[in-house]
Amino acid sequence: MKHLSELPAWRQLWPHYEEMKSVHMRDLFTQDPDRARRYWLEVGGLTLDYAKNRITDQTLNGLFELARESGLPEKMRAMFAGEKINNTENRAALHIALRNRADTPIYVDGENVMPKVNSVLRHMGRFAHAVRNGDWTGYTGQAITDIVNIGIGGSDQGPLMMCTALQTYGHPRLNMHFVSNVDGTQLRDVLEQVRPETTLFIIASKTFTTQETLTNAHTARDWFLRAGREEDIAKHFVAVSTNKEAVSAFGIDTANMFEFWNWVGGRYSLWSAIGLPIMIYLGEENFIAMLEGAHLMDQHFINAPFEQNMPVLLGMIGIWYINYFGGGSHVIAPYDQHLHHLPRFIQQLDMESNGKQTACDGTPVGTDTGPIIWGETGINGQHAFFQLLHQGTHITPIDLIASLEKRSNLPGHHEILLSNVFAQAEAFMRGKTAEEVRAELQAQGMDGEKIEKLVPHKTFSGNRPTNILLLDKIDPRNMGSLIALYEHKVFVQGVVWGINSFDQWGVELGKQLAKTILAELTGEIPPQPHDASTERLIRLYRRANCEVDGTCDIL
Ligand code: F6P
Repeated sequence: MKHLSELPAWRQLWPHYEEMKSVHMRDLFTQDPDRARRYWLEVGGLTLDYAKNRITDQTLNGLFELARESGLPEKMRAMFAGEKINNTENRAALHIALRNRADTPIYVDGENVMPKVNSVLRHMGRFAHAVRNGDWTGYTGQAITDIVNIGIGGSDQGPLMMCTALQTYGHPRLNMHFVSNVDGTQLRDVLEQVRPETTLFIIASKTFTTQETLTNAHTARDWFLRAGREEDIAKHFVAVSTNKEAVSAFGIDTANMFEFWNWVGGRYSLWSAIGLPIMIYLGEENFIAMLEGAHLMDQHFINAPFEQNMPVLLGMIGIWYINYFGGGSHVIAPYDQHLHHLPRFIQQLDMESNGKQTACDGTPVGTDTGPIIWGETGINGQHAFFQLLHQGTHITPIDLIASLEKRSNLPGHHEILLSNVFAQAEAFMRGKTAEEVRAELQAQGMDGEKIEKLVPHKTFSGNRPTNILLLDKIDPRNMGSLIALYEHKVFVQGVVWGINSFDQWGVELGKQLAKTILAELTGEIPPQPHDASTERLIRLYRRANCEVDGTCDIL
Protein backbone atom coordinates (compact mmCIF):
# COMPACT_ATOMS: atom_id res chain seq x y z
CA MET A 1 0.00 0.00 0.00
CA LYS A 2 1.15 3.54 -0.74
CA HIS A 3 1.45 5.93 2.16
CA LEU A 4 0.00 9.40 2.01
CA SER A 5 3.40 11.03 1.55
CA GLU A 6 4.07 8.87 -1.54
CA LEU A 7 0.99 9.98 -3.44
CA PRO A 8 1.40 12.40 -6.37
CA ALA A 9 -1.50 14.55 -5.16
CA TRP A 10 0.20 14.90 -1.75
CA ARG A 11 3.30 16.27 -3.38
CA GLN A 12 1.38 18.50 -5.77
CA LEU A 13 -0.43 20.16 -2.88
CA TRP A 14 2.81 21.35 -1.22
CA PRO A 15 3.63 24.22 -3.61
CA HIS A 16 -0.02 25.26 -3.39
CA TYR A 17 0.23 25.21 0.40
CA GLU A 18 3.34 27.43 0.17
CA GLU A 19 1.23 29.98 -1.71
CA MET A 20 -1.80 29.61 0.51
CA LYS A 21 -0.11 29.91 3.86
CA SER A 22 0.20 33.66 3.50
CA VAL A 23 -3.16 34.24 1.83
CA HIS A 24 -5.74 35.86 4.06
CA MET A 25 -9.36 34.76 3.93
CA ARG A 26 -10.41 38.41 3.87
CA ASP A 27 -8.81 38.63 0.44
CA LEU A 28 -10.41 35.39 -0.70
CA PHE A 29 -13.81 36.85 0.15
CA THR A 30 -13.00 40.08 -1.65
CA GLN A 31 -11.73 38.30 -4.76
CA ASP A 32 -14.72 35.98 -5.04
CA PRO A 33 -18.09 37.58 -4.28
CA ASP A 34 -19.69 34.18 -4.86
CA ARG A 35 -17.54 32.37 -2.28
CA ALA A 36 -20.21 32.17 0.44
CA ARG A 37 -22.75 30.65 -1.95
CA ARG A 38 -20.29 28.18 -3.46
CA TYR A 39 -18.78 26.94 -0.20
CA TRP A 40 -22.13 26.08 1.28
CA LEU A 41 -23.86 22.71 1.38
CA GLU A 42 -27.23 21.49 2.58
CA VAL A 43 -27.97 17.85 3.36
CA GLY A 44 -31.32 16.95 4.92
CA GLY A 45 -31.78 19.30 7.86
CA LEU A 46 -28.10 20.24 8.05
CA THR A 47 -26.44 23.27 6.49
CA LEU A 48 -22.67 23.54 6.33
CA ASP A 49 -21.00 26.90 5.70
CA TYR A 50 -17.37 26.09 4.95
CA ALA A 51 -16.48 29.38 3.26
CA LYS A 52 -14.38 30.54 6.20
CA ASN A 53 -11.61 28.06 5.53
CA ARG A 54 -8.18 28.75 4.06
CA ILE A 55 -9.08 27.05 0.81
CA THR A 56 -9.68 27.80 -2.83
CA ASP A 57 -11.04 25.65 -5.66
CA GLN A 58 -7.47 24.59 -6.34
CA THR A 59 -7.09 23.42 -2.73
CA LEU A 60 -10.31 21.45 -2.87
CA ASN A 61 -9.50 19.85 -6.22
CA GLY A 62 -6.09 18.81 -4.90
CA LEU A 63 -7.65 17.38 -1.75
CA PHE A 64 -10.29 15.45 -3.70
CA GLU A 65 -7.54 14.03 -5.91
CA LEU A 66 -5.67 13.04 -2.75
CA ALA A 67 -8.79 11.28 -1.48
CA ARG A 68 -9.13 9.40 -4.77
CA GLU A 69 -5.46 8.41 -4.82
CA SER A 70 -5.79 7.19 -1.22
CA GLY A 71 -8.46 4.77 -2.41
CA LEU A 72 -11.35 6.47 -0.64
CA PRO A 73 -14.02 5.51 -3.22
CA GLU A 74 -13.02 1.82 -3.01
CA LYS A 75 -12.84 1.88 0.80
CA MET A 76 -16.29 3.51 1.01
CA ARG A 77 -17.75 0.80 -1.19
CA ALA A 78 -15.96 -1.86 0.87
CA MET A 79 -17.40 -0.52 4.11
CA PHE A 80 -20.94 -0.35 2.72
CA ALA A 81 -20.60 -3.88 1.30
CA GLY A 82 -19.71 -5.36 4.69
CA GLU A 83 -16.11 -6.21 3.79
CA LYS A 84 -13.80 -6.80 6.75
CA ILE A 85 -12.12 -3.42 6.65
CA ASN A 86 -11.19 -3.72 10.35
CA ASN A 87 -8.23 -5.86 9.34
CA THR A 88 -6.53 -6.29 12.73
CA GLU A 89 -9.68 -7.81 14.22
CA ASN A 90 -10.87 -9.37 10.96
CA ARG A 91 -14.24 -7.65 11.25
CA ALA A 92 -16.56 -5.56 9.13
CA ALA A 93 -17.45 -2.06 10.34
CA LEU A 94 -21.15 -1.99 9.64
CA HIS A 95 -22.80 0.73 11.65
CA ILE A 96 -24.45 1.72 8.36
CA ALA A 97 -26.36 -1.60 8.45
CA LEU A 98 -27.90 -0.67 11.80
CA ARG A 99 -29.66 2.28 10.18
CA ASN A 100 -30.18 0.79 6.73
CA ARG A 101 -33.80 1.88 6.49
CA ALA A 102 -33.95 0.79 2.85
CA ASP A 103 -33.40 -2.75 4.15
CA THR A 104 -31.21 -3.65 1.18
CA PRO A 105 -29.29 -6.86 1.92
CA ILE A 106 -25.82 -6.44 3.41
CA TYR A 107 -23.73 -9.58 3.71
CA VAL A 108 -21.13 -10.57 6.28
CA ASP A 109 -19.61 -14.03 5.78
CA GLY A 110 -22.32 -14.79 3.25
CA GLU A 111 -25.18 -13.93 5.65
CA ASN A 112 -27.52 -11.00 5.13
CA VAL A 113 -27.33 -9.13 8.45
CA MET A 114 -30.53 -7.15 7.93
CA PRO A 115 -33.03 -9.73 9.29
CA LYS A 116 -31.21 -9.88 12.63
CA VAL A 117 -30.77 -6.09 12.75
CA ASN A 118 -34.52 -5.68 12.23
CA SER A 119 -35.38 -8.42 14.70
CA VAL A 120 -33.36 -6.75 17.51
CA LEU A 121 -34.99 -3.44 16.65
CA ARG A 122 -38.42 -5.07 17.04
CA HIS A 123 -37.34 -6.62 20.37
CA MET A 124 -36.14 -3.20 21.57
CA GLY A 125 -39.40 -1.64 20.34
CA ARG A 126 -41.60 -4.09 22.28
CA PHE A 127 -39.57 -3.60 25.43
CA ALA A 128 -39.45 0.19 25.11
CA HIS A 129 -43.25 0.34 24.63
CA ALA A 130 -43.83 -1.82 27.68
CA VAL A 131 -41.59 0.32 29.89
CA ARG A 132 -43.02 3.56 28.56
CA ASN A 133 -46.69 2.65 28.87
CA GLY A 134 -46.23 1.09 32.30
CA ASP A 135 -46.91 -2.54 31.28
CA TRP A 136 -43.39 -3.45 32.33
CA THR A 137 -43.48 -3.14 36.07
CA GLY A 138 -41.04 -3.62 38.91
CA TYR A 139 -41.39 -6.34 41.54
CA THR A 140 -44.06 -4.44 43.48
CA GLY A 141 -46.17 -3.90 40.37
CA GLN A 142 -45.26 -0.22 40.00
CA ALA A 143 -44.24 1.33 36.68
CA ILE A 144 -40.56 2.06 36.05
CA THR A 145 -39.61 5.66 36.79
CA ASP A 146 -35.80 5.54 36.60
CA ILE A 147 -33.49 3.99 34.04
CA VAL A 148 -29.86 3.54 35.07
CA ASN A 149 -27.54 2.76 32.17
CA ILE A 150 -24.31 1.19 33.38
CA GLY A 151 -21.63 1.22 30.68
CA ILE A 152 -18.50 3.09 29.68
CA GLY A 153 -16.95 4.55 26.51
CA GLY A 154 -19.17 3.79 23.53
CA SER A 155 -21.58 1.93 25.80
CA ASP A 156 -22.24 5.16 27.68
CA GLN A 157 -21.42 8.25 25.67
CA GLY A 158 -23.71 7.81 22.65
CA PRO A 159 -26.87 7.16 24.68
CA LEU A 160 -25.95 9.87 27.21
CA MET A 161 -25.27 12.42 24.47
CA MET A 162 -28.47 11.58 22.51
CA CYS A 163 -30.77 11.44 25.56
CA THR A 164 -29.42 14.81 26.67
CA ALA A 165 -29.60 16.37 23.22
CA LEU A 166 -33.17 15.21 22.71
CA GLN A 167 -34.51 15.57 26.23
CA THR A 168 -37.42 17.69 25.04
CA TYR A 169 -38.69 14.46 23.38
CA GLY A 170 -38.17 12.38 26.55
CA HIS A 171 -40.94 10.49 28.35
CA PRO A 172 -42.13 12.67 31.26
CA ARG A 173 -42.22 9.79 33.77
CA LEU A 174 -38.71 8.57 33.05
CA ASN A 175 -35.55 9.89 34.67
CA MET A 176 -32.39 8.82 32.87
CA HIS A 177 -29.14 8.15 34.73
CA PHE A 178 -25.80 7.14 33.29
CA VAL A 179 -23.09 5.53 35.36
CA SER A 180 -19.72 4.97 33.74
CA ASN A 181 -17.12 5.80 36.35
CA VAL A 182 -15.84 3.08 38.65
CA ASP A 183 -15.27 5.83 41.22
CA GLY A 184 -18.05 4.68 43.54
CA THR A 185 -19.33 8.20 44.09
CA GLN A 186 -21.06 8.26 40.72
CA LEU A 187 -23.09 5.11 41.33
CA ARG A 188 -23.71 6.02 44.96
CA ASP A 189 -25.07 9.42 43.96
CA VAL A 190 -27.48 7.80 41.50
CA LEU A 191 -28.59 5.09 43.95
CA GLU A 192 -29.41 7.79 46.47
CA GLN A 193 -31.91 9.25 44.00
CA VAL A 194 -33.73 6.08 42.93
CA ARG A 195 -35.91 3.36 44.50
CA PRO A 196 -35.25 -0.33 43.79
CA GLU A 197 -38.91 -1.10 43.06
CA THR A 198 -39.16 1.44 40.21
CA THR A 199 -35.64 1.30 38.75
CA LEU A 200 -34.50 -0.51 35.65
CA PHE A 201 -30.78 -1.13 35.20
CA ILE A 202 -29.42 -1.54 31.70
CA ILE A 203 -26.00 -3.18 31.79
CA ALA A 204 -24.41 -2.15 28.51
CA SER A 205 -21.13 -3.69 27.46
CA LYS A 206 -20.14 -5.01 24.08
CA THR A 207 -17.64 -7.44 25.60
CA PHE A 208 -19.29 -7.80 29.02
CA THR A 209 -15.79 -8.04 30.45
CA THR A 210 -15.13 -4.35 31.09
CA GLN A 211 -13.96 -4.00 34.68
CA GLU A 212 -15.61 -0.67 35.43
CA THR A 213 -19.00 -1.72 34.07
CA LEU A 214 -19.03 -5.13 35.73
CA THR A 215 -17.96 -3.68 39.07
CA ASN A 216 -20.76 -1.11 38.92
CA ALA A 217 -23.23 -3.76 37.75
CA HIS A 218 -22.38 -6.08 40.66
CA THR A 219 -22.69 -3.24 43.16
CA ALA A 220 -26.04 -2.22 41.67
CA ARG A 221 -27.27 -5.80 41.91
CA ASP A 222 -26.18 -6.07 45.58
CA TRP A 223 -27.97 -2.80 46.29
CA PHE A 224 -31.10 -4.09 44.59
CA LEU A 225 -31.02 -7.37 46.50
CA ARG A 226 -31.20 -5.52 49.78
CA ALA A 227 -34.83 -4.81 48.82
CA GLY A 228 -35.81 -7.26 46.09
CA ARG A 229 -35.31 -11.01 45.74
CA GLU A 230 -33.17 -12.99 43.28
CA GLU A 231 -36.27 -13.84 41.22
CA ASP A 232 -37.09 -10.11 40.92
CA ILE A 233 -33.82 -9.40 39.13
CA ALA A 234 -35.37 -10.22 35.75
CA LYS A 235 -37.75 -7.28 36.11
CA HIS A 236 -34.99 -4.82 36.99
CA PHE A 237 -31.87 -5.83 35.07
CA VAL A 238 -31.45 -6.16 31.32
CA ALA A 239 -28.22 -6.48 29.37
CA VAL A 240 -27.00 -5.18 26.04
CA SER A 241 -24.04 -7.13 24.74
CA THR A 242 -22.47 -9.34 22.11
CA ASN A 243 -21.44 -11.85 24.81
CA LYS A 244 -24.33 -14.17 25.78
CA GLU A 245 -22.23 -16.43 28.01
CA ALA A 246 -20.92 -13.58 30.15
CA VAL A 247 -24.41 -12.07 30.44
CA SER A 248 -25.90 -15.28 31.76
CA ALA A 249 -22.85 -15.84 34.03
CA PHE A 250 -23.66 -12.44 35.57
CA GLY A 251 -27.16 -13.71 36.31
CA ILE A 252 -29.21 -11.90 33.70
CA ASP A 253 -31.67 -14.09 31.82
CA THR A 254 -30.63 -14.02 28.16
CA ALA A 255 -34.32 -13.46 27.32
CA ASN A 256 -33.65 -9.99 28.78
CA MET A 257 -30.58 -9.48 26.66
CA PHE A 258 -30.50 -7.24 23.60
CA GLU A 259 -27.94 -8.46 21.18
CA PHE A 260 -25.53 -6.80 18.80
CA TRP A 261 -22.56 -8.05 16.85
CA ASN A 262 -18.79 -7.81 16.65
CA TRP A 263 -19.05 -5.72 13.47
CA VAL A 264 -20.45 -2.85 15.55
CA GLY A 265 -17.60 -0.81 17.02
CA GLY A 266 -18.16 0.51 20.56
CA ARG A 267 -17.97 4.16 19.52
CA TYR A 268 -20.29 3.47 16.55
CA SER A 269 -22.86 1.55 18.58
CA LEU A 270 -25.56 4.01 19.58
CA TRP A 271 -27.62 2.84 16.57
CA SER A 272 -27.61 -0.75 17.89
CA ALA A 273 -29.14 -2.22 21.04
CA ILE A 274 -26.70 0.04 22.93
CA GLY A 275 -29.27 2.70 21.96
CA LEU A 276 -31.90 0.99 24.15
CA PRO A 277 -31.94 3.82 26.72
CA ILE A 278 -32.47 6.25 23.85
CA MET A 279 -35.38 4.23 22.52
CA ILE A 280 -36.98 3.85 25.94
CA TYR A 281 -36.65 7.56 26.68
CA LEU A 282 -37.61 8.95 23.27
CA GLY A 283 -39.89 6.20 22.01
CA GLU A 284 -39.52 3.84 19.08
CA GLU A 285 -40.73 6.35 16.50
CA ASN A 286 -38.12 8.91 17.47
CA PHE A 287 -35.40 6.28 17.57
CA ILE A 288 -36.36 5.22 14.04
CA ALA A 289 -36.34 8.88 12.97
CA MET A 290 -32.77 9.11 14.31
CA LEU A 291 -31.84 6.03 12.26
CA GLU A 292 -33.49 7.59 9.22
CA GLY A 293 -31.46 10.75 9.65
CA ALA A 294 -28.28 8.72 9.81
CA HIS A 295 -29.35 6.67 6.78
CA LEU A 296 -29.93 9.88 4.87
CA MET A 297 -26.34 10.92 5.62
CA ASP A 298 -25.05 7.44 4.69
CA GLN A 299 -26.78 7.64 1.31
CA HIS A 300 -25.44 11.12 0.76
CA PHE A 301 -21.93 9.98 1.66
CA ILE A 302 -21.90 6.99 -0.66
CA ASN A 303 -23.64 8.70 -3.59
CA ALA A 304 -22.72 12.38 -3.68
CA PRO A 305 -19.72 13.48 -5.74
CA PHE A 306 -16.79 14.51 -3.57
CA GLU A 307 -17.34 18.18 -4.47
CA GLN A 308 -20.75 18.12 -2.76
CA ASN A 309 -20.10 15.47 -0.15
CA MET A 310 -20.34 16.81 3.40
CA PRO A 311 -18.28 14.13 5.21
CA VAL A 312 -15.65 14.19 2.46
CA LEU A 313 -15.43 17.98 2.59
CA LEU A 314 -15.07 18.09 6.37
CA GLY A 315 -12.60 15.22 6.35
CA MET A 316 -10.39 16.59 3.58
CA ILE A 317 -10.41 20.17 4.85
CA GLY A 318 -9.32 18.67 8.18
CA ILE A 319 -6.46 16.87 6.43
CA TRP A 320 -5.41 20.19 4.88
CA TYR A 321 -4.91 21.73 8.31
CA ILE A 322 -3.46 18.69 10.08
CA ASN A 323 -1.01 17.60 7.42
CA TYR A 324 -0.09 20.83 5.66
CA PHE A 325 -0.57 23.62 8.19
CA GLY A 326 0.46 21.39 11.09
CA GLY A 327 -2.67 22.00 13.16
CA GLY A 328 -2.87 19.23 15.71
CA SER A 329 -6.18 19.91 17.38
CA HIS A 330 -9.78 20.56 16.48
CA VAL A 331 -12.50 22.21 18.54
CA ILE A 332 -16.13 21.15 18.67
CA ALA A 333 -18.20 24.05 19.95
CA PRO A 334 -21.95 23.43 20.10
CA TYR A 335 -23.97 26.57 20.78
CA ASP A 336 -26.65 24.60 22.52
CA GLN A 337 -26.88 23.55 26.14
CA HIS A 338 -28.48 20.21 25.33
CA LEU A 339 -25.52 19.39 23.08
CA HIS A 340 -23.02 19.84 25.89
CA HIS A 341 -22.00 16.16 25.75
CA LEU A 342 -21.33 16.33 22.00
CA PRO A 343 -17.65 17.39 22.20
CA ARG A 344 -16.89 14.46 24.50
CA PHE A 345 -18.75 12.06 22.23
CA ILE A 346 -16.91 13.23 19.12
CA GLN A 347 -13.68 13.12 21.09
CA GLN A 348 -14.01 9.36 21.62
CA LEU A 349 -15.31 8.80 18.11
CA ASP A 350 -12.38 10.60 16.50
CA MET A 351 -9.50 9.99 18.88
CA GLU A 352 -10.15 6.30 19.55
CA SER A 353 -10.59 5.79 15.81
CA ASN A 354 -7.73 7.79 14.37
CA GLY A 355 -5.25 8.09 17.22
CA LYS A 356 -2.89 5.67 15.47
CA GLN A 357 0.69 5.67 14.25
CA THR A 358 0.69 2.39 12.37
CA ALA A 359 -0.79 1.96 8.91
CA CYS A 360 -3.09 -0.97 8.03
CA ASP A 361 -0.10 -2.87 6.61
CA GLY A 362 1.82 -2.61 9.89
CA THR A 363 4.29 0.06 8.76
CA PRO A 364 4.67 3.48 10.40
CA VAL A 365 2.27 6.01 8.86
CA GLY A 366 4.94 8.65 8.41
CA THR A 367 2.57 11.64 8.66
CA ASP A 368 0.48 13.16 11.41
CA THR A 369 -2.85 11.45 12.03
CA GLY A 370 -5.91 12.10 14.18
CA PRO A 371 -6.24 15.51 15.79
CA ILE A 372 -6.80 16.16 19.48
CA ILE A 373 -10.51 16.80 19.73
CA TRP A 374 -11.70 19.04 22.48
CA GLY A 375 -14.46 21.49 23.17
CA GLU A 376 -17.31 22.71 25.24
CA THR A 377 -20.50 24.65 24.62
CA GLY A 378 -19.36 27.54 22.47
CA ILE A 379 -20.82 30.30 24.59
CA ASN A 380 -19.00 29.03 27.71
CA GLY A 381 -15.84 28.46 25.68
CA GLN A 382 -15.92 32.11 24.60
CA HIS A 383 -15.48 33.11 28.23
CA ALA A 384 -12.74 30.57 28.85
CA PHE A 385 -10.46 29.17 26.13
CA PHE A 386 -11.48 31.15 23.03
CA GLN A 387 -8.73 33.64 23.88
CA LEU A 388 -6.19 31.06 22.73
CA LEU A 389 -8.21 30.35 19.61
CA HIS A 390 -8.24 34.05 18.69
CA GLN A 391 -4.72 35.10 19.60
CA GLY A 392 -2.76 31.96 20.48
CA THR A 393 0.03 30.56 18.35
CA HIS A 394 -1.73 27.37 17.24
CA ILE A 395 -3.90 26.85 14.22
CA THR A 396 -7.05 25.25 15.58
CA PRO A 397 -10.01 24.72 13.28
CA ILE A 398 -13.37 25.02 15.03
CA ASP A 399 -16.77 23.54 14.26
CA LEU A 400 -19.53 25.86 15.49
CA ILE A 401 -22.80 23.95 15.75
CA ALA A 402 -26.23 25.49 16.39
CA SER A 403 -29.95 25.18 15.84
CA LEU A 404 -31.84 27.56 13.56
CA GLU A 405 -35.04 26.88 15.42
CA LYS A 406 -35.36 28.79 18.69
CA ARG A 407 -34.55 26.47 21.56
CA SER A 408 -36.72 28.03 24.18
CA ASN A 409 -39.57 30.50 24.33
CA LEU A 410 -37.56 32.85 26.51
CA PRO A 411 -37.50 36.10 24.52
CA GLY A 412 -34.18 37.24 23.10
CA HIS A 413 -32.05 34.27 24.14
CA HIS A 414 -31.72 32.50 20.82
CA GLU A 415 -30.86 35.67 18.93
CA ILE A 416 -28.08 36.43 21.40
CA LEU A 417 -26.80 32.87 21.04
CA LEU A 418 -26.80 32.88 17.24
CA SER A 419 -25.35 36.38 17.04
CA ASN A 420 -22.39 34.97 18.95
CA VAL A 421 -22.01 32.02 16.58
CA PHE A 422 -21.90 34.27 13.54
CA ALA A 423 -19.77 36.92 15.25
CA GLN A 424 -17.18 34.42 16.42
CA ALA A 425 -16.82 32.93 12.95
CA GLU A 426 -16.51 36.43 11.48
CA ALA A 427 -13.93 37.43 14.09
CA PHE A 428 -11.90 34.27 13.55
CA MET A 429 -11.87 34.93 9.83
CA ARG A 430 -11.41 38.73 9.68
CA GLY A 431 -9.35 39.40 12.75
CA LYS A 432 -8.61 43.05 13.41
CA THR A 433 -5.77 44.93 11.78
CA ALA A 434 -3.43 47.37 13.52
CA GLU A 435 -5.03 50.20 11.51
CA GLU A 436 -8.49 49.22 12.68
CA VAL A 437 -7.33 49.09 16.30
CA ARG A 438 -5.65 52.48 15.96
CA ALA A 439 -8.74 54.07 14.43
CA GLU A 440 -10.93 52.62 17.14
CA LEU A 441 -8.72 53.89 19.97
CA GLN A 442 -8.33 57.30 18.37
CA ALA A 443 -12.10 57.57 18.15
CA GLN A 444 -12.22 56.90 21.90
CA GLY A 445 -9.85 59.85 22.37
CA MET A 446 -6.85 57.87 23.64
CA ASP A 447 -3.48 59.56 23.34
CA GLY A 448 -1.00 58.44 20.67
CA GLU A 449 1.62 56.88 22.91
CA LYS A 450 -0.88 54.75 24.80
CA ILE A 451 -2.43 53.67 21.51
CA GLU A 452 0.87 52.44 20.12
CA LYS A 453 1.53 50.39 23.25
CA LEU A 454 -1.85 48.74 23.01
CA VAL A 455 -2.01 48.14 19.26
CA PRO A 456 -0.03 44.85 19.18
CA HIS A 457 -2.12 43.41 22.01
CA LYS A 458 -5.46 44.39 20.54
CA THR A 459 -4.62 43.20 17.04
CA PHE A 460 -6.12 39.92 15.85
CA SER A 461 -4.40 38.16 12.98
CA GLY A 462 -7.65 36.45 11.93
CA ASN A 463 -7.43 33.91 9.11
CA ARG A 464 -8.52 31.25 11.58
CA PRO A 465 -10.72 28.56 10.08
CA THR A 466 -14.24 27.63 11.13
CA ASN A 467 -17.03 25.43 9.85
CA ILE A 468 -20.54 26.46 10.75
CA LEU A 469 -23.03 23.62 10.99
CA LEU A 470 -26.64 24.66 11.40
CA LEU A 471 -29.40 22.21 12.14
CA ASP A 472 -32.94 23.25 11.07
CA LYS A 473 -33.84 22.04 14.53
CA ILE A 474 -32.42 19.71 17.14
CA ASP A 475 -34.63 16.72 16.49
CA PRO A 476 -33.98 12.96 16.29
CA ARG A 477 -33.63 12.95 12.52
CA ASN A 478 -31.11 15.79 12.39
CA MET A 479 -29.14 14.40 15.31
CA GLY A 480 -28.91 11.10 13.43
CA SER A 481 -27.56 12.94 10.38
CA LEU A 482 -25.13 14.98 12.46
CA ILE A 483 -23.55 12.00 14.20
CA ALA A 484 -23.35 9.98 10.97
CA LEU A 485 -21.64 13.00 9.38
CA TYR A 486 -18.88 12.93 12.00
CA GLU A 487 -18.55 9.15 11.80
CA HIS A 488 -17.93 9.38 8.06
CA LYS A 489 -15.62 12.35 8.40
CA VAL A 490 -13.46 10.26 10.75
CA PHE A 491 -13.56 7.37 8.27
CA VAL A 492 -12.49 9.63 5.39
CA GLN A 493 -9.47 10.83 7.32
CA GLY A 494 -8.56 7.32 8.47
CA VAL A 495 -8.57 6.12 4.87
CA VAL A 496 -6.34 8.98 3.73
CA TRP A 497 -3.85 8.19 6.51
CA GLY A 498 -4.06 4.50 5.62
CA ILE A 499 -4.96 3.49 9.16
CA ASN A 500 -7.61 1.17 10.55
CA SER A 501 -10.15 3.46 12.24
CA PHE A 502 -12.03 0.57 13.81
CA ASP A 503 -9.62 -1.04 16.28
CA GLN A 504 -8.30 0.45 19.56
CA TRP A 505 -5.28 -1.53 20.71
CA GLY A 506 -3.95 1.55 22.46
CA VAL A 507 -6.38 1.09 25.34
CA GLU A 508 -5.06 -2.36 26.26
CA LEU A 509 -1.71 -1.80 27.99
CA GLY A 510 -3.05 0.31 30.85
CA LYS A 511 -5.88 -2.18 31.46
CA GLN A 512 -3.36 -5.02 31.65
CA LEU A 513 -1.04 -3.26 34.08
CA ALA A 514 -3.94 -2.16 36.27
CA LYS A 515 -4.83 -5.82 36.92
CA THR A 516 -1.52 -6.51 38.69
CA ILE A 517 -1.50 -3.18 40.48
CA LEU A 518 -5.06 -3.78 41.71
CA ALA A 519 -3.99 -7.06 43.34
CA GLU A 520 -1.10 -5.19 44.98
CA LEU A 521 -3.35 -2.39 46.25
CA THR A 522 -5.81 -4.80 47.80
CA GLY A 523 -2.98 -6.76 49.39
CA GLU A 524 -3.95 -9.89 47.45
CA ILE A 525 -0.37 -10.22 46.24
CA PRO A 526 2.87 -8.82 47.68
CA PRO A 527 4.53 -5.81 46.03
CA GLN A 528 5.75 -6.61 42.52
CA PRO A 529 8.72 -5.09 40.68
CA HIS A 530 7.81 -1.89 38.82
CA ASP A 531 9.73 1.25 38.05
CA ALA A 532 10.71 3.13 41.21
CA SER A 533 8.03 5.80 40.83
CA THR A 534 5.18 3.27 40.46
CA GLU A 535 6.48 1.26 43.43
CA ARG A 536 6.51 4.39 45.57
CA LEU A 537 2.95 5.28 44.60
CA ILE A 538 1.69 1.79 45.40
CA ARG A 539 3.41 1.87 48.80
CA LEU A 540 1.92 5.28 49.55
CA TYR A 541 -1.58 4.02 48.80
CA ARG A 542 -1.08 0.88 50.88
CA ARG A 543 0.15 2.87 53.84
CA ALA A 544 -2.84 5.20 53.57
CA ASN A 545 -5.37 2.35 53.41
CA CYS A 546 -3.93 -0.83 54.91
CA GLU A 547 -5.38 -0.24 58.35
CA VAL A 548 -8.85 0.21 56.90
CA ASP A 549 -8.39 -2.90 54.76
CA GLY A 550 -6.63 -4.92 57.50
CA THR A 551 -3.75 -5.83 55.19
CA CYS A 552 -0.82 -4.04 56.89
CA ASP A 553 0.94 -7.34 57.55
CA ILE A 554 2.12 -7.60 53.94
CA LEU A 555 3.28 -4.01 53.56
O1 F6P B 1 -11.44 0.54 26.53
C1 F6P B 1 -12.01 1.10 25.41
C2 F6P B 1 -13.31 0.45 25.06
O2 F6P B 1 -13.10 -0.82 24.59
C3 F6P B 1 -14.11 1.27 24.07
O3 F6P B 1 -13.72 1.07 22.78
C4 F6P B 1 -15.50 0.84 24.36
O4 F6P B 1 -16.45 1.73 23.86
C5 F6P B 1 -15.48 0.78 25.87
O5 F6P B 1 -14.16 0.35 26.19
C6 F6P B 1 -16.48 -0.11 26.51
O6 F6P B 1 -16.36 -1.44 26.10
P1 F6P B 1 -17.51 -2.47 26.36
O7 F6P B 1 -18.73 -2.01 25.66
O8 F6P B 1 -17.01 -3.78 25.82
O9 F6P B 1 -17.75 -2.55 27.84
